Amino acid sequence: MSATPVVPLLDLKPQYQAIKADIDAAIARVVASQVFILGPEIEGLEREIAQYCSVSHAVGCSNGSDAIVLALMAIGGKPGEEVVCPSYTFFATGGAVARVGMKPVWADIDPVTYNMCPESAAQAAGRCRSLKAILPVHLYGQAADMDAFAALGTRLKVAVIEDAAQAIGAKDAQGIPVGGKGTMATWSFFPSKNLGGFGDGGMCTTNSAELADALKMLRVHGSKIKYMHTHVGMNGRLDALQAAVLRVKLRHLESWHAGRARNAKFYDDAFTQAGASDSRTPLAKGGFALRFPYRLPSPARHIYNQYVLRVPQGLRDELRAHLTEQKIGTEVYYPVPLHLQECFEYLGARKGSLPHSEAAALETIALPIFPELSIEQLRHVAEQVVAFVGRRAATAVGV
Ligand SMILES: Cc1ncc(COP(=O)(O)O)c(C=O)c1O
Repeated sequence: MSATPVVPLLDLKPQYQAIKADIDAAIARVVASQVFILGPEIEGLEREIAQYCSVSHAVGCSNGSDAIVLALMAIGGKPGEEVVCPSYTFFATGGAVARVGMKPVWADIDPVTYNMCPESAAQAAGRCRSLKAILPVHLYGQAADMDAFAALGTRLKVAVIEDAAQAIGAKDAQGIPVGGKGTMATWSFFPSKNLGGFGDGGMCTTNSAELADALKMLRVHGSKIKYMHTHVGMNGRLDALQAAVLRVKLRHLESWHAGRARNAKFYDDAFTQAGASDSRTPLAKGGFALRFPYRLPSPARHIYNQYVLRVPQGLRDELRAHLTEQKIGTEVYYPVPLHLQECFEYLGARKGSLPHSEAAALETIALPIFPELSIEQLRHVAEQVVAFVGRRAATAVGV
């Protein structure tokens, strides 16, 4: 009998082993050049990312959080001006807004996709006095409704900045890659992303030459001519070692996306067979007490940076503890929505004000989805989830 497999949430070692020779050569190339900050590797990556994302300009920067800060600075965001954004997202979305002194105005999510709900965003915008931008997030690697947000931005004459940190290569309902319909998009190369570096890294993209120019100036302390500063920018540059690694990895990104999609399909099929439905059916409708992620139909593409299940509130933490016992890694993205974070108390949002975000924070759990998972590992995860949820739902404790 084979041993029970261990299944980490993410293991990057097999990916590195598969492309080690090319990565090591790219690193050696940078070391030999002794050009570490900006330079040809960054320019090469910028060209390649712009092409991959079907946009005109890409500007490398220090990380995905600073990318949002730079984008807000580039549109001339001023302290006190408002930015409508989701509360159910990674901290950086709202954190970046606050870092430039602007005011996050929270919108609720669509409980089917977990992306910001256009109607809720429009209502939030309607409450603003000095709205500057709308900041949707393509959460977990699935496109937010950019047609609706772009239309809202046009109607209100404000910028739309896409936080695409988790979504490089994702495509919307028309099959258009995310990042091109907003005024600008921001990206993260944090190691756990589908395209992840060997440290921090980020990018801003835009179809506006003027904004690309502003971004390039802002990432070097607001200077176009050395030691001459027209603006107060920041040290927000991407380093050459990261760019060199990312350029190698970009060549494999499509096959990694395909691996994640294959794994997601394996889970979808296993959960469907167990009687579960996707997130279009609310848990309150009953049936098997698990919802797997709804995926917009082709030509849309979900890149599954995360594969996130939903189970009833009382069950989520118990399921997580059980999977940990079974040596299966999981994570909760995100346990506390931003409007309920201590640091944002000053904004005065109440508990209960964003019901879909608050419910998702209590009911969602991410499973391992990285491309190199074996069939045995996937089967083990699916079996453990199904058996546990089935058992607990049967006894109806905490459900
Ligand atoms: C939605 C979202 N926005 C922004 C960021 C920030 O990116 P970074 O960690 O590169 O600063 C992340 C990173 O996890 C993210 O998931």
